[in-house]
Amino acid sequence: MWKREAGLCFIGLTTWLLHCCVFMNLVNGYSVKNCTVRGSLQYAQNINVFCNKRNLHFIPRNIPDKATYLDVSDNVIQKIHQEYFSHLSNLKSFIALHNRIREVEDGAFSSLVALQELNLAFNKLTDISAGMFQDLRNLTVLHLNDNLIANISISAFSPLISLRKVNLSRNHLKQISKVQPLFSLPQLQEVHIGSNNFSSFQTSEVSNISLRLKVLDLFQNPLKVFSVTADIFPRLDNLSLAFIAENMTWDVQDRSYLQSVRHLNLSGIQLPVEKITDLLQTFNSSLASLRLHSLGDVKVKALMRNVCLISSLRFLGLQGNNITSISKDEMQFCTQLTELDLSNNDLNSVPAVISSLPGLQFLDLTFNHIKSISRVDFANLTQLRTLQMYSNYISFIDDFAFKDLKGLETLMIGSNRLVLNGYFKKDLQKLTILDLANNKLDSVRRGDFESLKSLKNLSLPDNQISFIEAGSFDGLTNLIFLNLQSNKLSRGSIKDSVFSRLPNLKTLLLNNNYISYDNQKPLDHPPFQNLRKLKTLHIFSQGHKGMRYLPSNLFNGLKSLEKLQAENLNINSLDPDTFTYTPYLWELDLSRNELLSLTTRIFLPLRVLKTLHLSKVGLQSLDFLINANLSKLHLLHVSTNALSVINETLIRSLPTLIYLDLRGNYLSCDCTNAWFVNWTISSNDTEVESAYELTCNYPDKVKGHKLLDLDVDSCNVDVGFFCFISTATLVSMTLLGSFLFHFLRWQVVYAYYLLLAFLHDNKQQRKPNGLQYDAFISYNVHDELWVMRELLPQLEGEQGWKLCLHHRDFEPGKPIMDNIVNGIYSSRKTICVISHHYLESEWCSREIQVASFRLFDEKKDVLILVFLEHIPSHQLSPYYRMKRLIQKKSYLSWPEPGEDTRVFWQKLRVALENKDSSEMEHPLAGI
Ligand SMILES: *[C@@H]1O[C@H](CO)[C@@H](O)[C@H](O)[C@H]1NC(C)=O
Ligand SMILES: *[C@@H]1O[C@H](CO)[C@@H](O)[C@H](O)[C@H]1NC(C)=O
Ligand SMILES: *[C@@H]1O[C@H](CO)[C@@H](O)[C@H](O)[C@H]1NC(C)=O
Ligand SMILES: *[C@@H]1O[C@H](CO)[C@@H](O)[C@H](O)[C@H]1NC(C)=O
Ligand SMILES: *[C@@H]1O[C@H](CO)[C@@H](O)[C@H](O)[C@H]1NC(C)=O
Ligand SMILES: *[C@@H]1O[C@H](CO)[C@@H](O)[C@H](O)[C@H]1NC(C)=O
Repeated sequence: MWKREAGLCFIGLTTWLLHCCVFMNLVNGYSVKNCTVRGSLQYAQNINVFCNKRNLHFIPRNIPDKATYLDVSDNVIQKIHQEYFSHLSNLKSFIALHNRIREVEDGAFSSLVALQELNLAFNKLTDISAGMFQDLRNLTVLHLNDNLIANISISAFSPLISLRKVNLSRNHLKQISKVQPLFSLPQLQEVHIGSNNFSSFQTSEVSNISLRLKVLDLFQNPLKVFSVTADIFPRLDNLSLAFIAENMTWDVQDRSYLQSVRHLNLSGIQLPVEKITDLLQTFNSSLASLRLHSLGDVKVKALMRNVCLISSLRFLGLQGNNITSISKDEMQFCTQLTELDLSNNDLNSVPAVISSLPGLQFLDLTFNHIKSISRVDFANLTQLRTLQMYSNYISFIDDFAFKDLKGLETLMIGSNRLVLNGYFKKDLQKLTILDLANNKLDSVRRGDFESLKSLKNLSLPDNQISFIEAGSFDGLTNLIFLNLQSNKLSRGSIKDSVFSRLPNLKTLLLNNNYISYDNQKPLDHPPFQNLRKLKTLHIFSQGHKGMRYLPSNLFNGLKSLEKLQAENLNINSLDPDTFTYTPYLWELDLSRNELLSLTTRIFLPLRVLKTLHLSKVGLQSLDFLINANLSKLHLLHVSTNALSVINETLIRSLPTLIYLDLRGNYLSCDCTNAWFVNWTISSNDTEVESAYELTCNYPDKVKGHKLLDLDVDSCNVDVGFFCFISTATLVSMTLLGSFLFHFLRWQVVYAYYLLLAFLHDNKQQRKPNGLQYDAFISYNVHDELWVMRELLPQLEGEQGWKLCLHHRDFEPGKPIMDNIVNGIYSSRKTICVISHHYLESEWCSREIQVASFRLFDEKKDVLILVFLEHIPSHQLSPYYRMKRLIQKKSYLSWPEPGEDTRVFWQKLRVALENKDSSEMEHPLAGI
């Protein structure tokens, strides 16, 4: 065996030599320091580069030339230098929100010939200089809001001949004359200049020719005058004068000057009612939508009569006015309205006026205090299509309350206090969306949704549903989306073919419930077997204990399934057949499960898998993917595992990989990862997430260093040295070695361990603090459950020993042999948990070798053998050294099921208490 390994090592080394010997110069590849790149550099049209939230003082220099989108928001950049962008001639969007930019060098953007969107909002700009926007001829959108801009050079905007939209809100401009040059831009359609301390807006200050402007937003300026004295806004559609706090003089000389305005926002405006009324006269025939938010109950009601006289009005927004009720009289002339927004008021019931507005198509009553719905509330509303009643206190709905809502398509009635009380047994035949989230539903029964023949989307999350009667969803033949997340569903609630009559269901959300299984055995009636069209299934995060097991046929029937979210289920293993039912799965998330033994077979049925999430599952290697034939895999998320080496074979087995997230692993920074480092830097197709931030965990001297700082050239140099000098020596040494090995097998192995142990002891002597653990536990992964559920709680919990377990205490990234030697030599005892699996597993027997070597070397009694199952003597014969140990000494056997375990634990305690008696005498003798 050792000979074979030595041979393999040699072949591995030579192939690798070859690779390094023809090593090429680094090319500038995918990974950008301090940024994330999305999109293939070779194939994609759009390369998006995200460098946000990284505490950057500068824009990183190595942004790929092909980048089309660059986001550097939420950093601490103070100045934009000219050289930043010299090569970015493809950039279409540059986003730098929330920095500390005070200054932009003249011409800084002039290389960005393709730039269409520039966003510098939430910075500290004070001046816009003449050269700032030089050459930005294709710019269409410019955001400069929330800065400290007080001065704008008169020619600053003139290069922006394509500009359509500009936002300068919340700056310190004070005089309209400063933005005047904007208005002469030929393409300008949208201007936002709210909250700038302007004291007047007069068309005479702006332009003398007719403009293309469509949107003019002047909110929160202390305007004393608004004057339109020329017909310069023939296309103005949307005007906002919200929160103007002055007694503004309204001077529109000719009504026709604003005749195209259809949307007007007068929210929070502080004019007297009479003045608002006058102002509204201007828009008599054009206005379609009017917002009167935050004016207060009295003022709104005083305005209402005149508002309703605007015959063209369709939408009226009355949010946040503290309205407690509206009588029929108060809005009786508003019958032309089709949309009414009464959200965020103090209504205790549906206002009486509603039923006399038969033209309503949209009604919003969210965030009020409505307690019930009576049979007259929505009478006559045959046109109503959308009814929003989120966040009220509704606990009761009258029997015939929905009788007239023959056209209702969307009913949002979440965050109330409802139980299902026959409300949906009749009427609402056109309803397609029903949202009952966050109510007090505890069960769903047959017939509860009986009349909702058109229903496509049913949301019942955040209730307390624990019981679903069989047939509850029968008849919902059009249902596409069913959300049952965050309820109290158990395994029992979803059995009995609850989902059997939902032939068109595409999405089923069952996450955050209490569904769990006791074993992997196939279920007699798999719950999803009739959901032939289901594409998305969420089952993640079940209860406190998790789902624990996925029955091998749980997904039986899901032959269209594309996305499965199964993270955080406390499952430890998967039956190889689990995914045989879901051949079209392309996104699979199994993160946050302690999946100790993933095998290639599990993934073989997933022929079209594109995205695989395996974060936080305790992976030590990705070897199971090598032959899994995942030829379509694009995204692989394996962050927060215990991976140490990513090798070429693995990467080559994933030919379409474009994204790899490896953050939070324990990477080895030695030549084993040299290939990976080169590939990460040079690959044009695969982006390694935050590659430049990946850190080393091994060897100790470079712990915490950056992986990509690894000097792969030094691997290269050693290799060259080998190439020229040592090849022949290596070959003869290997031959000699294998020859010796063949004849002197155990002597060689012992010599090897002697060397390891010698090195270790030498190291140990320099550390005075002695032994770290009471016992090192050597076991096979198949016996992990016993170790975790029986041994660990008893020895660590009850008896208070400190144990060293490989999956818990081994230092990830360190070669396994080092870990074993370390573990054994820093423990007083070694407990071997012996089973058939254990005997077959190779590295476990290495542990015995090291331990028995220690016994031989130190004459210390370190080994405790625990037999988990009966192993006939003849089966032990290949392990003759162990047999010798067993013959010489005693061992412990785990009792048969049903027998008392107390004696066993007591004996183990005695064995552990024995402070290494330096003779071979054994406390267990005679057991
Ligand atoms: C990355 O960011 C750090 C600050 O967080 C900075 O010191 C370093 O120079 C940056 N690297 C590049 C290439 O911009
Ligand atoms: C600028 O926009 C025009 C029209 O959309 C387009 O034809 C041209 O290619 C753009 N220029 C650049 C450098 O992208
Ligand atoms: C507002 O101005 C008008 C004249 O435009 C004046 O009649 C009225 O008294 C003023 N109201 C307030 C509250 O200053
Ligand atoms: C509504 O009432 C609250 C609390 O009384 C008050 O703070 C708020 O200013 C009122 N809003 C309006 C628009 O009157
Ligand atoms: C429904 O409308 C009719 C007139 O169209 C009116 O007489 C009746 O009172 C309305 N019903 C309710 C409950 O307001
Ligand atoms: C990568 O690792 C796998 C499994 O350990 C091994 O079979 C393969 O030969 C390795 N490939 C290279 C190039 O070292």
